[in-house]
Amino acid sequence: MAYFSRVVGTGSGFPERVMTNAEFEEILDTSDEWIRTRTGIETRRIADRLKGETTLSHSEKAARAAMESAGITGDDIDCIIIGTVTPDSVMPTTANQLQARLGAHRAFSFDLQAACSGFVYGLSIADAFIRQGQVKTALVIGAETLSSIMNWRDRGTCVLFGDGAGAVILQRTEDPAHSVIATRIHSDGRHGSILKIEHGYGKVPPYAAEYRHDLAKVQMVGSEIFKLAVRNMCESAQALLDSQNLKPEQVDFFLFHQANLRIIDMCMKTLGVPPEKTWLNVNKYGNTSAATLPVGLDEAMRSGAVKPGQLVLMATFGGGVTWGTALIRL
Ligand code: ACO
Repeated sequence: MAYFSRVVGTGSGFPERVMTNAEFEEILDTSDEWIRTRTGIETRRIADRLKGETTLSHSEKAARAAMESAGITGDDIDCIIIGTVTPDSVMPTTANQLQARLGAHRAFSFDLQAACSGFVYGLSIADAFIRQGQVKTALVIGAETLSSIMNWRDRGTCVLFGDGAGAVILQRTEDPAHSVIATRIHSDGRHGSILKIEHGYGKVPPYAAEYRHDLAKVQMVGSEIFKLAVRNMCESAQALLDSQNLKPEQVDFFLFHQANLRIIDMCMKTLGVPPEKTWLNVNKYGNTSAATLPVGLDEAMRSGAVKPGQLVLMATFGGGVTWGTALIRL
């Protein structure tokens, strides 16, 4: 018996506070105009951790919405994967804590670190578990509280990111016509230094003499990321389509990682994607790392922009560096 995985539910979850570009003008040497024209970002959500808004709480909101749309309960879930670089704690993992909250007591659960590519990595792994018959229902989440790892004095990074989560329920099917058709995940550690958090972990722990608070926050070489993101997302997408004997014009809908409108525009030009075939929300949420793709899929499906039966291609790129693509027939 051959098994495949089908997307049967999606959901999103965000903290309440909306932070505008104008608010950055009060604390940094920046402007709404600079942020909008360089990135397309207008607002982002920022978690209030004192009110209990964390990666776990955004994940729970997204998971419950996805479970409701799939018509399942915690008892039905066999596997929970959360792609995140901002877990609530390292042990127990955020996924383990979510498992308890959802009453998904039969599930095994783990967090996965692949930066902005965490969701596509998680989708690929969950799909493999389902195909090999070990899992019937998987909850795959991309979730971040990036505001907690920003240097709020660095205008080159903190204006770009936001907090939130997206969730997808995958379920075993024997019908390949509506399934995750193929995924590709990639890494290249040689470029690790272009997006990094150096201090605060094993190499330079907070109690080390050389520990520096600013190096325990995100540092980025934006222009290098820009070039690699466009090249790797497009090459991976094209290779995945070639492997299926498909041309970009045969794909109904494209979801690109929402990091920067200019990166998305260049990917669309390279692959020849018209504007009506994609979903943009980087203006509302900024870059929510692993959350951007499941949130985009959730919004596009709920709005009717993408419909059951359509062929969707997702592409992402993130720190590490990591990247990946997924081709799904909804
Ligand atoms: N406000 C005002 N000026 C700023 C700001 C800001 N918020 N940030 C940087 N600048 C300044 C810089 O200091 C620089 O000034 P200088 O010329 O006096 O040194 C100037 O703007 C130009 O900086 P550049 O980096 O050349 O600007 P660029 O047009 O490349 O845009 C950006 C910068 C938006 C970061 C771009 O490189 C980018 O989007 N890169 C991709 C990074 C990304 O998306 N990272 C997300 C994480 S990885 C991922 O998710 C894919």
